Amino acid sequence: MCGIVGYIGKRNAYQILIQGLHRLEYRGYDSSGVAMIAENGEMNIYKAKGKVDALEHYASNKDLSGNIGIAHTRWATHGEPNDVNAHPHFSQSRNLALVHNGTIENYSVLKEALSQQGYEFVSETDTEVVVQLIEYIMQTNACSLFEAVREAAKQVVGAYAIAVIEKSNPDRIIAARQSSPLVIGVGEDDFFLASDATPIIEYTNKVVYLNDGEIAVIDRTEGLNVYDINSNDESQICITELKMSIEELEKGGYPHFMLKEIFEQPKTLTDCISGRISADGSQIVLSGVIEHKEKFLNANRVIIVACGTSWHAALIGKHLIEDFCRIPVEVAYASEFRYCNPVVREGDVLIALSQSGETADTLAALELAKSRGAFVFGICNVIGSSIPRATHSGCYIHVGPEIGVASTKAFTGQVTVLAMMALLVGQMKGLVSDEKLQKVASDIRRVPALIQKIFEMNDKIENLAKIFTYAHNFLYLGRGYNFPSALEGALKLKEISYIHAEGYPAAEMKHGTIALIDNDMPSVVIAIKDNVYEKTVSNIQQVKARGGKVVAIVTEGDEIVASLADYVLEVPEISECLTPLLTAIPMQLLAYYIAVNKGRNVDQPRNLAKSVTVE
Ligand code: M6R
Repeated sequence: MCGIVGYIGKRNAYQILIQGLHRLEYRGYDSSGVAMIAENGEMNIYKAKGKVDALEHYASNKDLSGNIGIAHTRWATHGEPNDVNAHPHFSQSRNLALVHNGTIENYSVLKEALSQQGYEFVSETDTEVVVQLIEYIMQTNACSLFEAVREAAKQVVGAYAIAVIEKSNPDRIIAARQSSPLVIGVGEDDFFLASDATPIIEYTNKVVYLNDGEIAVIDRTEGLNVYDINSNDESQICITELKMSIEELEKGGYPHFMLKEIFEQPKTLTDCISGRISADGSQIVLSGVIEHKEKFLNANRVIIVACGTSWHAALIGKHLIEDFCRIPVEVAYASEFRYCNPVVREGDVLIALSQSGETADTLAALELAKSRGAFVFGICNVIGSSIPRATHSGCYIHVGPEIGVASTKAFTGQVTVLAMMALLVGQMKGLVSDEKLQKVASDIRRVPALIQKIFEMNDKIENLAKIFTYAHNFLYLGRGYNFPSALEGALKLKEISYIHAEGYPAAEMKHGTIALIDNDMPSVVIAIKDNVYEKTVSNIQQVKARGGKVVAIVTEGDEIVASLADYVLEVPEISECLTPLLTAIPMQLLAYYIAVNKGRNVDQPRNLAKSVTVE
């Protein structure tokens, strides 16, 4: 949540900062701003409510000179989205400018204390308190910006990634992190700073991930130095080479990232599987699991913590692990888990499932489980993000950057990794026979081609979306492996079209929800040929008997459901445990086209951000 960019070097900072803000807009987009020290020595801050385009428009006739600057795109926490609350924030003397991602929990106490010292605040943000505190420390202790930021970092409670520049010293950026991500790009003769690597990759593939509790001094002549905030000891700088390509960050001719990401799934799942399943399907290799084999073999239980779409993938993971490994699995919302004093012991394996690897609740849940003796394992997409760095081991899903706020390819990547993991652990436990492994693993290898086949229905789904664009409510029904799919289908529709939708276990519907069914309440029913197929067929009949419209997602060639439902979308046959990988696709497309028809901002829906780094 919120994106930070910074630059210091020989080039004009503004273009780099603006381009960086565009790349980070998925993290928040209610206002944005830049601070630069201009050629005439002045520090200019330009801010605008709305998207980065609004900032560009506002700044177009201003002094955009200077080769040092910081910038920010905001997802509001303290104070409404407006020009004043947008970052960067000036200190009282206007000598400092600061951007911040995170939340400062003790900001009101600090604000009160600073007010008593004569500091005046113009915004409602917690961030302004930090920049004023730094200035206060500089003035009262007569110390450098570096020392003041270090001292301020000890006084603030909460999560932060900050970057500060100083008008009277235009040769340095000071940055610090606690629980919010910060990456420093190391160029030939310049440095870049960002909340993730996406704004950096077009300039350099060499990056340094700042750790929690570290402060960085990025100096034009002295280069990069990193210190521990508390001890002031110098940290060893570890440069990582990024493998991401710039094409992965572009729309590639699609009108939206979401559509591109939906259509990318045959490729992203091929990448996800690559090198992990042998050609004949007889062997699965996940080194993060194999290296810690004993932990999985001796696990008393598995707990999966996640949020949103990742939580839906986790529910499918529960089915997979219980089916193949016979280990009890609990799935918890990370935000609930962390505050409910959960029983976690040595012998438990906790899986933190997160596309971004930065979700604050998931990170906190895993830290809690780790402190109570669990073995913690991460399944994430963003390489080098906070969760993989906090876990004992893990697997990346390798689906490439997901920019659309609505998760699509990450969901199928997560389910694919969970399926491979469950099969592998089941095999290691002697519970999955060679034949079973070969059948399911070979089916996983078929998934990319089968998804490609489902895309042949794209036009049909686009037309279907026209029929339902003006529905006010939707019900999504599924059972077994596809109950979580129903939840995910409903979430996709809600978050991008703003139509109310509810995911429900198909058979549970008759205990209350069926009262909602009428001619105006369409139901998407996942009725593939699984072990409860006949029962789902009855559920469809119950909906039809009450005048409801049914869009059924069925196994190819199913004439029974075709004769009952109003509309049918077919998916190819595959092992039952993998059906969520196929049923997800028509639901992603349906949600996408309904949202487009409604004129919604599909990639950046209102009130949302891609990476939820606040509580
Ligand atoms: O990065 P994470 O997987 O941890 O994110 C979790 C949720 O915030 C995320 O899945 C969210 O629900 C998406 N907008 C769903 O499309």
